[in-house]
Amino acid sequence: MTTTLLRLATPADLSAINDIYSYSVLYSTATYQSEPSTDAERLAWFTAHGAAHPVTVAEIDGQVVGWGSLSPYHPRAAFRHTVEESVYIHHDFHRRGLGRTILLDLLARARAIGHHRVIAAISGDQEPSLALHRALGFTNAGRLNEVGFKFGRWLDLVYLEYRI
Ligand SMILES: CC(C)(COP(=O)(O)OP(=O)(O)OC[C@H]1O[C@@H](n2cnc3c(N)ncnc32)[C@H](O)[C@@H]1OP(=O)(O)O)[C@@H](O)C(=O)NCCC(=O)NCCS
Repeated sequence: MTTTLLRLATPADLSAINDIYSYSVLYSTATYQSEPSTDAERLAWFTAHGAAHPVTVAEIDGQVVGWGSLSPYHPRAAFRHTVEESVYIHHDFHRRGLGRTILLDLLARARAIGHHRVIAAISGDQEPSLALHRALGFTNAGRLNEVGFKFGRWLDLVYLEYRI
């Protein structure tokens, strides 16, 4: 039987985090980034996440198979109680409940930290992600039409919000 360990990320996880993310960068519209991040960029991203903006990983048998994060939604001070969430599962481990587990944990952490709103910005064609977020109580907050362009086509960006 495999056990999933959910924990805060450490610098030793950054390579695995970047590998999981790079798959979506290269092959998916889940992120509008089109070039993988360098190790230095990933380290800078991690270092910028303090206690109020956790990065978490899910581990199975010692392998990091997914990660999640809460990031500041906007640098202006009045947005400080709002965070934007990310969750990425290794492509070989989809549909095993890991996305749900990581996202539920992030929402619990957001509540404990004292955040007020959690925002998800999801490409309109990403049905798995939209379904996951809606299943956990995120509601529609707006749609920007054709603001992304990847793999030769225009993409809509859907905003969902979660009220803590
Ligand atoms: C979206 C993503 C995180 C889902 O993670 P996952 O571990 O595969 O999802 P789970 O097994 O936890 O599924 C939880 C719920 O999400 C929904 N869901 C997940 N994958 C789905 C799919 N392919 N089609 C429809 N619904 C889906 C379902 O409601 C599911 O509940 P159910 O299994 O009881 O039906 C994963 O597909 C992923 O990493 N995608 C690439 C990156 C991405 O899109 N990240 C989100 C950007 S913020």
